[in-house]
Amino acid sequence: MQQTKKLLLLGLLSLFAVFMVACSGDDGSESETNDTGSDNASDESASESEGEEVTIVYATGVDTTGKVQAQIEEFMELHPNITVDYREMPSDTGQQHDQYVTMFSSQSSEIDVFNGDVIWPAEFAQANYALELDRFIEADGFDLEAHFDGPIQAGNFNGRQWALPLYIDASFLYYRTDITDTPPATWDELIEQAEALQGEGDTQFGYITQASQYEGLVTNFVEIIASYGGAVVDENNEVVVNSPETIKGLEKLAEIVQSDFVPGNILNFQEIETENAWIAGDSVFARNWPYMQSSSSDEERSSVVDNVDIAPLPAGDEGSSSALGGWMAMINRYTEHPEESWELVKYLAGEEGQKTGAIVGNHAPTIESLYDDPEVQEAAPLFQNPQFVEGLSAAVPRPVSPIYPEISDIIQIEVSQVLTGEQTAEQAAENMQSKMEAAMAE
Ligand code: GLC
Repeated sequence: MQQTKKLLLLGLLSLFAVFMVACSGDDGSESETNDTGSDNASDESASESEGEEVTIVYATGVDTTGKVQAQIEEFMELHPNITVDYREMPSDTGQQHDQYVTMFSSQSSEIDVFNGDVIWPAEFAQANYALELDRFIEADGFDLEAHFDGPIQAGNFNGRQWALPLYIDASFLYYRTDITDTPPATWDELIEQAEALQGEGDTQFGYITQASQYEGLVTNFVEIIASYGGAVVDENNEVVVNSPETIKGLEKLAEIVQSDFVPGNILNFQEIETENAWIAGDSVFARNWPYMQSSSSDEERSSVVDNVDIAPLPAGDEGSSSALGGWMAMINRYTEHPEESWELVKYLAGEEGQKTGAIVGNHAPTIESLYDDPEVQEAAPLFQNPQFVEGLSAAVPRPVSPIYPEISDIIQIEVSQVLTGEQTAEQAAENMQSKMEAAMAE
């Protein structure tokens, strides 16, 4: 796992630029700051003295790392009067989204706290599904400044905070160190090496990624077009997707997905299929988020323990690029237990919760000081690398919009039709441009 550092530095140098603004992070600054928490059961003594037993429901997508269970146990030890029931949601972020929309639009209080994808807060704020967190943040002095600014901003809409970050995701190229020491630096090299190395070390595939028609495909699309200089929207939120750069990136993605070195059913691959094939030792290279380090090194599940390292994603003409992902803690606007829900959010997004998430789940914290914590550093080699943190700033956000689901659907449909050979990249770029312009004008 030792080449990690240098390689990561290269492609990811800018990956958190937006986020570095707020990196002053002192230790212990937030999760334990209860001094002004007058209107809620903030700390242990307050909780105990109130003595009221409350059960809240916490919903997250499928967790293959065990980190959610570890966080819940830790939280319940800190708050003996609050029982947290775990509700497992689908692993596909789009399916999770749709289930929450169904629940919240009927004003259901069946769940209290949930993990929201970084692309949801604007929509959930506008639709009035999420509880504003500002009064809790102020009352408890929760230290927003300890976090990278990007994820904090992702939870802010119309000047108010609707979500607090749990972790940040950027994608990486996983590679098998027992097969190669020199991972590909460009997409063309990836294609060459995947073809040449497929079958080595008992692998079946050269490369695996997420090509199913869902949100993960959008992240693959956004990052590969960015690596060729393309983008969906510009800094003024104008749609600029119909460009030669987008077309080039999309053609490269189609070339990879249509090759013989990927699984025949790659069009059904999401993160979970990628992870399963990867830890079974089926592929030389894989694209996935940092959490797959945890599964790769899990002695019980993985047959590639000690044979995995991580590099930046391959570069296009413009360099290496990763989509910006990540998850936020949010409270259901219709919860019957806002104070206890806040306690859970404060724990999860605070130092203790993020630290457990980093150690057990190998999720990249948004609290910068945690990267100096020896236990966090030891848990994932990636986290020891200062450039990894800096690198996160180059991650490319998806468009921030209350109608993001529509934008995402347009991308998913048009890109999928290129991958299946039903239309050309030129046609897709043209269609995306006109459909997005129409959706945004409404
Ligand atoms: C990861 C990212 C999330 C993204 C999803 C796509 O969970 O954190 O932001 O939307 O993958 O599948």
